Amino acid sequence: MFIHQVSEEISLKYLDMFDAQPLYGLIDASRPYLREWLPFVDATVSVDNTREYIQAALQQYAAGNGFQAVILWQGVLAGAIGFHSIDWANRSTSIGYWLAPALQGRGIMTQSCRAMVSIALREYDLNRVEIQVATGNHKSAAIPQRLGFGQEGIKRQAEWLNGRFVDHAVYSLLAEQWSRMES
Ligand SMILES: CC(C)(COP(=O)(O)OP(=O)(O)OC[C@H]1O[C@@H](n2cnc3c(N)ncnc32)[C@H](O)[C@@H]1OP(=O)(O)O)[C@@H](O)C(=O)NCCC(=O)NCCS
Repeated sequence: MFIHQVSEEISLKYLDMFDAQPLYGLIDASRPYLREWLPFVDATVSVDNTREYIQAALQQYAAGNGFQAVILWQGVLAGAIGFHSIDWANRSTSIGYWLAPALQGRGIMTQSCRAMVSIALREYDLNRVEIQVATGNHKSAAIPQRLGFGQEGIKRQAEWLNGRFVDHAVYSLLAEQWSRMES
């Protein structure tokens, strides 16, 4: 088990096959809430779909292309976070995340995301971290905003979501900004 301790209460555990059943269970139980902003939810109809996702995540990690993690809060499965991929040539990555509705409002995702930014910019020595958020997803947009990301612009009709195209607000944080924030 690879575990990154974010705080006393929060840890990130690299996704593995043992997570399939509990992760699918949490997605299934949170379906009406999560599907509003996450297209993968409707495509996840059985634990086998989650196994396929974990298989892809393991391949992603093995290829040196970042990782996917479950978020544990007080040891309880709270959600997931990960790097979509890593563009090593341009030293850039992007982050995606979701949280069980019952565990929102405690700062779990903001703190987890801060840890991922630190992994990207410090351990991986990347230069840029991006977070894309569908316009209207205010809770999600608040996370890069809280962490000091700047909004770069709007990607028009960037994602097909629940039968319509939605625009994405693009947020980014650069290594030089992060250094200034840490000092
Ligand atoms: C996006 C999502 C993860 C945000 O969850 P969240 O609980 O609002 O985010 P956090 O865990 O960082 O919690 C922040 C809240 O806790 C509060 N908080 C408490 N302690 C805190 C702390 N130590 N640090 C930061 N915030 C803290 C904040 O004030 C904020 O409350 P508010 O919403 O009333 O202003 C969640 O809404 C979600 O999973 N949505 C569905 C999936 C999704 O949209 N994913 C993103 C796609 S781009």
